[in-house]
Amino acid sequence: MNIPLIQPPQVEWASGALAKGPLLRKSTRIQDLTGIFVDETARRRLSGEHVVYDVEILATSPAEGELYTGVTHLYPGRVGSEFFMTRGHFHARREQGEVYFGLRGNGLLLLQNEQGQARLESVFVGSIHIIPGFTAHRLINTGSEVLSALAVWPGVAGHDYAALTKGFTLRVVEENQQIQVKAVQNG
Ligand code: F6R
Ligand code: MN
Repeated sequence: MNIPLIQPPQVEWASGALAKGPLLRKSTRIQDLTGIFVDETARRRLSGEHVVYDVEILATSPAEGELYTGVTHLYPGRVGSEFFMTRGHFHARREQGEVYFGLRGNGLLLLQNEQGQARLESVFVGSIHIIPGFTAHRLINTGSEVLSALAVWPGVAGHDYAALTKGFTLRVVEENQQIQVKAVQNG
């Protein structure tokens, strides 16, 4: 039998980049992140064009039962004392979870439930993160290299950014050359 061998998409191990798939790409810049960092004055002082993170997504179907795969490349940097981070979101379909997998660099995954209780997981090469439903999530790059993480999430999950307008209740900053976690009231 002559069964054609399918060459699947792949992650380039060294860079964490997705390759060989139909890819969608999105860059998120300083100018897109109004109100996300605590120090809005510091954010406005930075170049708006500066890319904070790139996301590559395999172009698959958003239908029930399908899965999306994407890689986030979160660059090192800070806004004021706060480390670069993703916007963060709940899934629109709150019960839908997600898996993150650390590919490159070091950082944190901030998880927060609907009652505002937050926790942090270390992200490192090979780390696996099971994000349950009803849990908002945000990546934070506390290192000096790019933080890349692969994510797999249900096609039907959707994203709800607006529900987090009050923000996350934990902030991660650098103070005295140390990584510090601060609790804040209502973000
Ligand atoms: C998908 C997911 C990730 C994020 C990406 C960017 O559900 O969690 O692919 O979308 O890390 O973060 P946001 O979407 O918060 O800007
Ligand atoms: Mn998600």
